[in-house]
Amino acid sequence: MMRIDLANLHADRIGTPFGLELATDLPQEVARLEAARDAILARKEDPAAMLGWIDLPAQQTELLHDIETFATDAQERFDDLVVLGIGGSALGTLAVHQALGRAAPARGDGLNLHVIDNVDSDVLHDVLGALDPRRTLVNVISKSGTTAETMAAFLVFERWLRDALGSDANQHIVATTDPVAGILRPYAERAGLTTFSVPANVGGRFSVFTPVGLLPLALAGHDVRALLGGAASILDDVRDAGASSVTLRLAAADVLTAARGATIHVMMPYASKLRRMADWYVQLWAESLGKRVDRDGNVVHAGTTPLPAAGTTDQHAQVQLFNEGPNDKLVTLVQVDTPRAPLQLPEPSADLADLAYLAGHDMHTLLNAERAATAHALAAHGRPNLTLHLPTLDAFHLGALLQSLMWQTALVGERWNLDAFDQPGVELGKRYTYALMGRSGFDEVRAELRAAGVGSTEPSGA
Ligand code: PA5
Repeated sequence: MMRIDLANLHADRIGTPFGLELATDLPQEVARLEAARDAILARKEDPAAMLGWIDLPAQQTELLHDIETFATDAQERFDDLVVLGIGGSALGTLAVHQALGRAAPARGDGLNLHVIDNVDSDVLHDVLGALDPRRTLVNVISKSGTTAETMAAFLVFERWLRDALGSDANQHIVATTDPVAGILRPYAERAGLTTFSVPANVGGRFSVFTPVGLLPLALAGHDVRALLGGAASILDDVRDAGASSVTLRLAAADVLTAARGATIHVMMPYASKLRRMADWYVQLWAESLGKRVDRDGNVVHAGTTPLPAAGTTDQHAQVQLFNEGPNDKLVTLVQVDTPRAPLQLPEPSADLADLAYLAGHDMHTLLNAERAATAHALAAHGRPNLTLHLPTLDAFHLGALLQSLMWQTALVGERWNLDAFDQPGVELGKRYTYALMGRSGFDEVRAELRAAGVGSTEPSGA
């Protein structure tokens, strides 16, 4: 099971302004978070509350069967899988695939995964040029079924498949979208595409354990059952573990340090395979908790700024700032206690005798020593930090980590009286883009942009 080490939040270690009396401050905040948890659970069955992600990990037997059947068949017919999606429709898949994947997957490991989460024609050309349409499956993923970036990429890939395969192209596309809403659902039904549904009560950044993540991850050969098993275990931690709950203590650290002035929240895994997890977390945290108004309509401009960092790499980049720059950050370090693939450091030759201190250690011992050293150095500089320990980086513990972080986000949102499940702040930019691209119904917005001197730029050499 995951563990959490909060010792570097203690007043004895980090002094003021962030130091806590762990024996009193922490249980008091955990008690407030238990009330927040109960409020969340009481709203769980309300479809508008967008809390479907809570029970999903334990409730998807039929869906898993459909996904695994589809994946087994697709692994015979295809070599490559292209996922078209953005934000919550891509980041979870990227996070899990990086964490559980191997640099050079063997044949039979699953389809080669390519995630297109931007409208960058240079990348699209590279991917299209490298793939054989006869052996490629495209999974277009959009909960809303309208997102311009995803749908633009879909137009490109759909045409590419149709030009090569004619009407057989339909056998190469699978659509994951809302059960009813959007452009994608009716199109997919008319074309007879295979479809999977994103439950209406699960928002994009909470959707990694819906077909949004499960389908591409199963196609890419990952153990989605173990992933869900780990995720399901977190409900016990949140509901029953009281003051020893990892998730509640994690959320308590956020609430308490934010109240004392930590405005930046660093997510720093000591595992290269968890870098994409940090990106996923940044989106989860930022879109959920960065809000202009609270649930009572008061203007609050709430939120702490999530910042990804990578141990040990960022010890040679951002850690200087973390230690000596403004004291405005809570640093969450993540340690994987046991590596999947140990690697012993060899004895150095005589002319490298100064490196003898490394010999005989496992590489992972050095990684963990660097994590411990960084945590202690941060504390010595009065910087609040905590460490989440994963026993190992496998599907079960990764599932638990992601679900715990979703709960952490929801709990902090509840404590701050925010709606953690909407994202009104991204709407205006979308409307401006539609207007700039000439979408009908946006004439007034277009006029507003023209008056402000804002216009789209056509590529010069087109
Ligand atoms: O968390 C969210 O709701 C967003 O980040 C969405 O996932 C993102 O905007 C993509 O939306 P959609 O899946 O509707 O294309």
